[in-house]
Amino acid sequence: MQPVNAAIIYYSATGTVHALAQAAAEGARKAGATVRLRKVAESAPPEAIAANPAWGRHLDDTRDIAVAGHDDLDWADVVLFGTPTRFGNPASQLRAFIETTGPLWFQGRLAGKVYSAFTASNTPHGGQESTLLALGNTFYHWGGVIVPPGYTDPVQFASGNPYGTSHVAGDGPPTDVILQAARHQARRAVDIAAALKAGRPVS
Ligand SMILES: Cc1cc2nc3c(=O)[nH]c(=O)nc-3n(C[C@H](O)[C@H](O)[C@H](O)COP(=O)(O)O)c2cc1C
Repeated sequence: MQPVNAAIIYYSATGTVHALAQAAAEGARKAGATVRLRKVAESAPPEAIAANPAWGRHLDDTRDIAVAGHDDLDWADVVLFGTPTRFGNPASQLRAFIETTGPLWFQGRLAGKVYSAFTASNTPHGGQESTLLALGNTFYHWGGVIVPPGYTDPVQFASGNPYGTSHVAGDGPPTDVILQAARHQARRAVDIAAALKAGRPVS
């Protein structure tokens, strides 16, 4: 069987979600997938970025990561999306990318893929679930197969979010438990995508 194609598509201003995305990429690779790690384009005005040194630094550090395009979505059997929580919702940069996908959606090319999502917020009750559920609304529209981590691994009882890996950035960078949860989430999404792919007639 052909390996599963996994796209990890994320936005991160100051690096937290990028760290989760990297862990998800590791987990997907470990599960045997071919992985594309992609950031979405930055659209914030330069003066906003300049006002936060950590933001500018992260942009610079990740300049070699390719920007997500429609081809990445079309290629993927499984897509994991990562975004900071912004007022309880996904970041506008990720939404802007998602809102360019009308032509793919119209052709049915986003349907039948596995989707999963992860996030970070500054505070423990800062809207992680609402962000993940908001992304889920789009997956419904696409006709996707939503694969959340649930409590399918002991790490989930430590990291604690069955909707998707979530980190409280106000506590510092992602801990080993959170990174492990991101790896588990990706592994599980890839495993389920592999089962679906194996059961599909070759087109
Ligand atoms: C405009 C804006 C809105 C935000 N809204 C929330 C929020 O609703 N809840 C919260 O806990 N943190 C909120 N934050 C903090 C971000 O979630 C946090 O900085 C982010 O998760 C860090 O991820 P990153 O390092 O990948 O950018 C907000 C930050 C910004 C800039």
